[in-house]
Amino acid sequence: MRDKIDVLSVLAALTLEEKAGLLSGQGAWETAAVERLGIGSVTLTDGPHGVRKHDPDAEHFSFTASLPATCFPTAAALGSSWDVELLAEIGAALGDEARAAGVGVLLGPGVNIKRSPLCGRNFEYLSEDPVLTGRLGAALVRGVQSRGVGASVKHFAANNQETDRMRIDVRADERTLREIYLAAFERIVTEARPWTVMASYNKINGGYAGENRWLLTEVLREQWGFDGLVVSDWGAVSDPVAAVAAGLDLEMPTTNGASAGRLVQAVRDGRLDEAVLDRAVTRLLTLLDQVTGAPAPAAPVDVERHHALARRVAAESAVLLKNQDAILPLDPCAHMHVAVIGEFARTPRFQGAGSSQVTPSRVDNAWDALTAAAGEHLRMTFVPGFVLSGEQKEDLLDEAVRAAAAADVAVVFLGLPEGEESEGFDREHLDLPQVQLRLLEAVARANPNVVVVLANGGAVRVTTWERHARAILEGWLAGQAGGGAIADLLFGLANPCGRLAETVPLRLQDTPCHLDFPGSAGTVSYGERIYVGYRYYDAKDMPVGYPFGHGLSYTTFAYSDLDATVEGEGEDVVVRVRLTVANTGPVPGKEVVQVYLGDAESSVDRPVRELKAFAKVELAPGGSAPVEFALTARDLSFYSTVHGRWVLESGDFEVAVGASSRDLRLTATVAVTAPPLRHPLDWHSTVGDWLAHPDAGPRLREVLSAAEGSAVASDPAILRMVESLPLNRLVQMSQGHLDFSDLAEFVDSPAARQA
Ligand code: BGC
Repeated sequence: MRDKIDVLSVLAALTLEEKAGLLSGQGAWETAAVERLGIGSVTLTDGPHGVRKHDPDAEHFSFTASLPATCFPTAAALGSSWDVELLAEIGAALGDEARAAGVGVLLGPGVNIKRSPLCGRNFEYLSEDPVLTGRLGAALVRGVQSRGVGASVKHFAANNQETDRMRIDVRADERTLREIYLAAFERIVTEARPWTVMASYNKINGGYAGENRWLLTEVLREQWGFDGLVVSDWGAVSDPVAAVAAGLDLEMPTTNGASAGRLVQAVRDGRLDEAVLDRAVTRLLTLLDQVTGAPAPAAPVDVERHHALARRVAAESAVLLKNQDAILPLDPCAHMHVAVIGEFARTPRFQGAGSSQVTPSRVDNAWDALTAAAGEHLRMTFVPGFVLSGEQKEDLLDEAVRAAAAADVAVVFLGLPEGEESEGFDREHLDLPQVQLRLLEAVARANPNVVVVLANGGAVRVTTWERHARAILEGWLAGQAGGGAIADLLFGLANPCGRLAETVPLRLQDTPCHLDFPGSAGTVSYGERIYVGYRYYDAKDMPVGYPFGHGLSYTTFAYSDLDATVEGEGEDVVVRVRLTVANTGPVPGKEVVQVYLGDAESSVDRPVRELKAFAKVELAPGGSAPVEFALTARDLSFYSTVHGRWVLESGDFEVAVGASSRDLRLTATVAVTAPPLRHPLDWHSTVGDWLAHPDAGPRLREVLSAAEGSAVASDPAILRMVESLPLNRLVQMSQGHLDFSDLAEFVDSPAARQA
C-alpha cells in the first residue's frame, strides 16, 4: 500500500496558482495533477447504473464512445425493487467495475425526487418518495464505497426537470425543500457518508445551487456533518469565486485555466480569503488520498457474474401491475402456442440516453430468452408488430393480428421510444406511441389473452389501453440482462416482487405539479409544496391508475397481529410497529411490507400518510414471519419554518401497514407525548396566539377582563372575532381601554420570545 498523503504539508508546499488550479478539472474526467509535488489525479466517470469510462481511442467525445461495462438496471427499475440489500450488492458490483477501470469516483446515484412523470431523466432517479429514495440511495453508496471507490450523490438539489436545466430557478419554501427534496440527500449523507456530492445546475430561490452557501455549507456541512468534497455538475459553475466561497470544492470539467485565474485574482484583491481556497484544496487532497489509498481489488471483474446479477435485479424490479384470471405465469411446458409481438422483444430498450449511457458488455433480448426457456411442447412465434422509428407499417400490424389469432396467448412488448426520454429535455405527454396502441387494440380483438410487457423509464398512462391486456408487467429500463429477467417472470421462474416507486396517474392533468411544470421565464414554482406523488393524490382523495407501492405477485400475502407501542417521549420517542406477514398462496414469494404514518392532530397541514419504513420479506408457501419496525421522533416530525428545525408535536398518530399506499391492511393509533410547541410571540402576534401561550395567555385574559368597558374577554363572540387581530392592533383600536404599558410586561419578556 502507498504512503498516506500528508495533506497539510502538501498544502503548505503549493503556490496560490497551484491551489487554484487544483479546484477545476484537467480535461473532461480528471482532477488536476501537480507533477512537481507528485500529486496525481482522480478519475471521475458516470454513472449511476454502469461505468461509462470514456474510450481513449475514440476520436471525438460522444455518450456512446465508452468502454464496455455491465449495464445494470436503471434507477427507475432499482427504485421499484424496494430492496436495500440488493442496492448494496449492485453498488459493490459497480464499485468493482469502476476500480478495475481505474475510476476513483463514480458519478451517482441520482437521488432527485420524481416531481413530475414528465421529467426526461426520471429513469435515472429512484422514486417520488424521499424515504424510499434515501434508503436505497444510501445502500448504493455504501456498496460502491465498500470497494474503495467514491460515490457522488447527485444532483444537489431540487434538480427535478430538464427544461432549462442549467438556469431554471426553483422557487420552493424551506419546508418543501427539507421534507421532500433534501431529505434523501440528508439520509445518504448522514448514514452512508459519501465521499462526494454533486451540486446541480439549477438555481434555488434565486441563486445557483453551486453558489448557495446555505445549501452547501450550512445545511450540507454544518447541519448534516458532510465532510467530503462538493463537485459541480459538468459546466454548472457560473462564478467560480462565488462557488468556492459558498462551499463548492471542485469545478468540472476543465476551464483551461480560466476559473483558476479568477480565483487567484479574487485572493489577490481580497475578495476571497485564501483560507477558503485552502479548505477546498484540503478536501480535494483528502479525496485523492482516499482514492489512491484504497486497497487493490481482490479479484478481476467477473463479467458473467455481473450479468447474472443484472438479470436477478431486473427480475426483482419489474412490477406486475395487473394479472387478470391469473393469466401469468405461462407454463413453459404447456401444450400451447405463444405469439411474441413487438420489436422490443427482439431489440430491447434497456437504458436511457445521455450521460448515464453505458456500452453494455452484452445484451440479452426477451425473445431469445423466452425460446431458450420454453419447453418442447410450447410453440413460439415472433412478429415485430411495429418498427422503432414509429412509422406506421400496415403489413406488420396485419402479420401481428394473424399471429395473435393463431396463438393461445399474445405477449406484446410495448414501450417508450428512445427519443422520448433522455437527459437534456422533458417528455411532453405520458402516452405510448399511437402505432403501438393501435397494434395492441388490433391484437386484443384477435385474441383476448393478451399480456403486455412495458419498457419505459418514466411512468406511462395505462387507462386508455389497459382493458386490452389481461396482464401488465412493467419492466422499466431493465439493463443489459432485462430480456432474461422478463422470460424468468413470464414463465414463473421468478415471482414478481417489484412495487411502484412512483404513482401511475390516470392522466397528465391529474399530476401534482401540472400547472407548475416546467415553469416559464426561467422560474418554476413548486406550488404543490410537500404534496408530491401519492401525498397529493391522497390529500385530494383522487383515483390513480396504479398507486405508489403497488405490485402483484404469483402468490398472496396476509397481514395480521399489528401491534404499535410507544416508548419514551419527545426526542427519544420510539414507536415500535410489529406485525406478522404470511404467504397464503401456492409459490414462494417476496412481499414488500410498507409502513405509513399520518398525524391526526397537527398545528400545520400534513399529508394524509407518508411512507416511513418498509421491508422486503421472503416467504415460502404457508410460511409466515414477524416483521418489526422502529419509528423515531424524526419520522413523526415536520419541518417547522417558524422554529427552523424538525418539530414533534404531542397527539395521536395513525400507523397504517399494507401492500401499497392504497392497500392498507392494518391500522393502529398511537398517542405520542412531546414538549408543548412554543411560537415566539411579539406585538404582531395575534390575540389568539397570545391566548394560547401557557404563561402569557392567562395574563392577557386578566388584562382584558380588567379593561374597563371592554367586552372582549366576557363575550365569546367578540373574543372569537378579535382572535385574529395582531395584539398591537387590538390595543390601538381599543379606544383607550387598553394601553401598551398594560401588556408590555409579558410581551417584552424573554419567555414570550422563546420558540
Ligand atoms: C449530468 C451529470 C453527469 C455529468 C457528467 C451532466 O450533464 O447532469 O449527471 O454526471 O454530466 O457526465
